Amino acid sequence: MNLKKYLVLIFMGLNFAGFAQNTASVSISNDSKLTISKYIYGQFAEHLGHGIYGGFWVDKSLPVEKQDRIRLDVVNALKKIKIPSLRWPGGCFADEYHWRDGIGPAEQRPRMVNTNWGGVTEDNSFGTHEFLELCGLLGCEPYFAANVGSGTVEEMSKWIEYVNSNSTSTVVQMRVQNGHPDPYKVTFWGIGNESWGCGGNMTPEFYSDQFKRYASFAKNYPGAPLKKIASGPNSDDYNWTDVIMKNIPGWMMWGISLHYYTVPSGNWSHKGSATSFTESEYFGTMVQCLKMEELVTKHSAIMDKYDPDKKVSLVVDEWGVWTDVEPGTNPGFLFQQNSLRDALIAATNLNIFNNHCDRVRGAALAQTINVLQSLILTDKDKMLLTPTYHIFDMYKVHQDAKYLPIQLTVPDYVVDGKKIPAINVSASQDASGKVHISLVNLDLHNNITISTSLKDIQWKTVTGQILTSANITDINTFDHPDKLHPENFKGAKKDGDNLVVVMPAKSAVTLELE
Ligand code: AHR
Repeated sequence: MNLKKYLVLIFMGLNFAGFAQNTASVSISNDSKLTISKYIYGQFAEHLGHGIYGGFWVDKSLPVEKQDRIRLDVVNALKKIKIPSLRWPGGCFADEYHWRDGIGPAEQRPRMVNTNWGGVTEDNSFGTHEFLELCGLLGCEPYFAANVGSGTVEEMSKWIEYVNSNSTSTVVQMRVQNGHPDPYKVTFWGIGNESWGCGGNMTPEFYSDQFKRYASFAKNYPGAPLKKIASGPNSDDYNWTDVIMKNIPGWMMWGISLHYYTVPSGNWSHKGSATSFTESEYFGTMVQCLKMEELVTKHSAIMDKYDPDKKVSLVVDEWGVWTDVEPGTNPGFLFQQNSLRDALIAATNLNIFNNHCDRVRGAALAQTINVLQSLILTDKDKMLLTPTYHIFDMYKVHQDAKYLPIQLTVPDYVVDGKKIPAINVSASQDASGKVHISLVNLDLHNNITISTSLKDIQWKTVTGQILTSANITDINTFDHPDKLHPENFKGAKKDGDNLVVVMPAKSAVTLELE
């Protein structure tokens, strides 16, 4: 009896006995001309808590390898996962940031209060040049968020001239004096942040006019054609998207942002713990996480009305899990631990973005180091890689690869009489012809056997990596920094033309077919 028939019999037997159906079928084709933009794998770093200060930018006396005050162990870790872009300086901070405060001799820079995040003093020691030096070290593209809420058109316009122009204007000469004769050529510019909230509490009608005004004075300099990104909707504010798309001509904006956070309880006043949760709470968190599929689908459909050729990108430039802060830490610093649950959330969101790459051409996980769903945590000279980091490592193979469309029939994961799809998947083919398939099993108890057919795709061997752990609440700590890490995956086999994968409960897997 071949493996397929054997599996069918087992499946029938289990159903007959009234057990959960633990099989899925996936069909992958190569009938697509779409590319999964590498910018889907972007990151975000705000002047918030210990993200910049104590994260990327550390005290001169800290005994770690540094360039200036930039910590090189975190730089090297982030280079390994090929982060394509870094959004800065906020977030809410962006709309109270004045770039001129962050250039010139550090000791002469003005100090300000970071009113959004803990009321701490911002000494502006990390400014434009330091951020661009960091991006140079990371080998990633900078994505600036310009101040619309409390700034001026002139301020934003001069910032662009300062970093991008090669003229002899006074502002460019300042850049030269500050040590950088060549233009930096920064192309990604956000025009404000959350202009419906901390960025000015604007209506979409008012913001569209502001956008047009600011964008008109955001000039292209040689070699730096701007990709202007409008401040987009909060979660399911579909009216915001509709008004922005209606009022702003497509040629004026490269993209429109979307912000959506997975709040475990769905309630901002009691978000839930990062490390201690029941299965029911885990399930509720996954319901919140999967809402991203609905949001991307519905915002894209509204964009299609005004932009059927999909020229304007949807840029999910703030996403991730937002839990209660770790007990005893500053509530304004948004420091949270990162468990296997976070890893499955990251993998699920990345699968959603990959599968919507016709419209989603950028994203930024919030917020890289020590803030919200981080890739890295630091404690003085120590650092650890979170389970979320490992997902980005496993998924980097999808960056700029050809998107492969998927059809799937999967069992439900049922808790308290409610259900969600247990399995989610995305796939791509890289320039060398290798196919990569990323699968997530959200079910905490059941292994699921997936029969996969690949139409018009030739392959001989399959290898893979898996991220899982004994408990969904497991985390990496400074004492056990490597508890969760990817391991070789042995659960995938070729069966005729089919690929059969046994996905362990609560796991994420990326396969490579050659
Ligand atoms: O990422 C934390 C905050 O969340 C950002 O500053 C803001 O844009 C959003 O509300």
